[in-house]
Amino acid sequence: MTQSPSPTPLQARQSPALTGVARVPGDKSISHRALILGALAVGRTSISGLLEGEDVLNTAKAMAVLGAKVERTGDTRWSVNGVGVAGFAQPDKPLDFGNSGTGCRLAMGAVAGCPITATFDGDASLRSRPMRRVLDPLELMGCRAQDKAGGGRLPLTLSGARDPIPIVYRTPVASAQIKSAVLLAGLSAPGVTTVIENEASRDHTELMLKQFGATISTTPEGVHGRRIDLKGQPELHGVDIVVPADPSSAAFPMVAALIVPGSEILLTDVMTNPLRAGLITTLREMGGAIDEMDLRGDGGEPMADFRIRASQLRGVEIPPERAPSMIDEYLVLAVAAAFAEGTTIMRGLQELRVKESDRLEATAAMLRVNGVRVEISGDDMIVEGRGHVPGGGVVATHMDHRIAMSALVMGLASDKSVGVDDIGFIATSFPDFIPMMRKLGAEFA
Ligand code: S3P
Repeated sequence: MTQSPSPTPLQARQSPALTGVARVPGDKSISHRALILGALAVGRTSISGLLEGEDVLNTAKAMAVLGAKVERTGDTRWSVNGVGVAGFAQPDKPLDFGNSGTGCRLAMGAVAGCPITATFDGDASLRSRPMRRVLDPLELMGCRAQDKAGGGRLPLTLSGARDPIPIVYRTPVASAQIKSAVLLAGLSAPGVTTVIENEASRDHTELMLKQFGATISTTPEGVHGRRIDLKGQPELHGVDIVVPADPSSAAFPMVAALIVPGSEILLTDVMTNPLRAGLITTLREMGGAIDEMDLRGDGGEPMADFRIRASQLRGVEIPPERAPSMIDEYLVLAVAAAFAEGTTIMRGLQELRVKESDRLEATAAMLRVNGVRVEISGDDMIVEGRGHVPGGGVVATHMDHRIAMSALVMGLASDKSVGVDDIGFIATSFPDFIPMMRKLGAEFA
C-alpha cells in the first residue's frame, strides 16, 4: 500500500503574493521527546505548544499504554505524570506508532531499558523502514528483539533488559534517532553510556535530558562530530516544557514566500537550534531574503521570528556535512532550487532513501512530472533551475507528508497547477497546513 484507504487529492495553483503572520505548530522532535522523557520522569511534566499531529498523538498513546498518565489539559497543553526511569508497565496491547519513525525508535530505546516485553507496529510506510540500526545497539545493551517479518522490520517484539549494560557506541550514520534510542536505554544502565557520532545530529534529547535533571556532557569529536556521555540511573523529575514552532514545518511557508512574487510573511517562534538550521543557511546562500528577529531562549531551545520576502534565487552547491542539519528539508529545498536560476547540487543524501518514503526518488519524480530537469547521481541530487516551473503534473505522495506539502508549495508559483494524489498524511506533522497557507493567500482547489 502506498496510499491511505481513501486518498484526498488536492491542487495548488499560481497564487497572489503571500502576506501575513503565522505560527506553525510545535516542533515534532521536541514534542516526542517531551512525552517520552515526561513518562520516564517522576512527578508532573507540563508541556505547552505540543504538536497535536498524528505522529505525536501516537507517542502520547504509547506512553499511556506503558503506564504514564498523559492528559490534554488545554489547546496544545498536555501533562504527563511519569513512572520513573525503568518503570514502564507491561503493555496489554501492541504499541502502534502509525507513520512515525521517531516515535517508534525513541520508544524502542526507552522500552529496552525496562524489564517488559512490548510489540511495536506502524503503518505500511513505517513497516518498510529499517529498525536494525536501532536494534543493533539496543541488543548490545541486553535487550532482545524478534521480528516475524524478518529483515529488522515492524511488527517486532522487544524484550527489555533486566540488567541493562552501558555501552560506548559509534553510530554508523548521523541519526538523532539512533543516538536518542541508545541514550534513553542508557538511562536504566549503571555507569556511563557513550554515543559517538562522526557528524553531529540534532541534540534535543541531550538538551532535554539535562532539563529533566540527568548528568550528560557533550564534547567535540573530530571535525564535525560529537561524543555524548550520559550517567545512568538518574532520577528524572518532571519539568515545564515550552515547545517552539517547528523549523521543518516553517520550511514550507518560508519557501512559498520566497518563490511567490511580491510575498512578505512573518513566521513567529521558530526554533533556531543550529543543528536544525541548515535550510536557512542554504536559502540565504541562494539569495533568499530571510531576516531573523528577536532571538530568544526559553530555558531549553532558542527561538526567533523570521521575516521572509520573495527573492530571485540562484543555484548553489550544498556540502554533504550540512545534511544532518537539514535532513527533512531537502524536498522543499528542491522546490526552491527548481525556481532558482542555475544548477543546485545537493550532496550526500543517502539517508533520504530510508525516510517516510524513498525521498530521493520521490523528490526527483515530483520535479520531473512538473517539467523540471533533475538527476540523481549516486547519493547526490542535481536540480536544473530555470527561474520558473512549468507545473501541470500530479505528484505521488507515497504516504509522505513532506512530499505532499512540498508539491503544493511548488504549485503556488508554477505556470500551471500542481496536483497531489493524497493530502491525508499531512496530518502526521502539520494538521493545519492547508488553512494556514490559505490564510497567507495560497490558492488550493
Ligand atoms: C528526528 C531525526 C531525523 C529526522 C526525523 C526526526 C528526530 O531522523 O529525519 O524527522 O526527532 O530525532 P534520523 O535520526 O533517522 O536522521
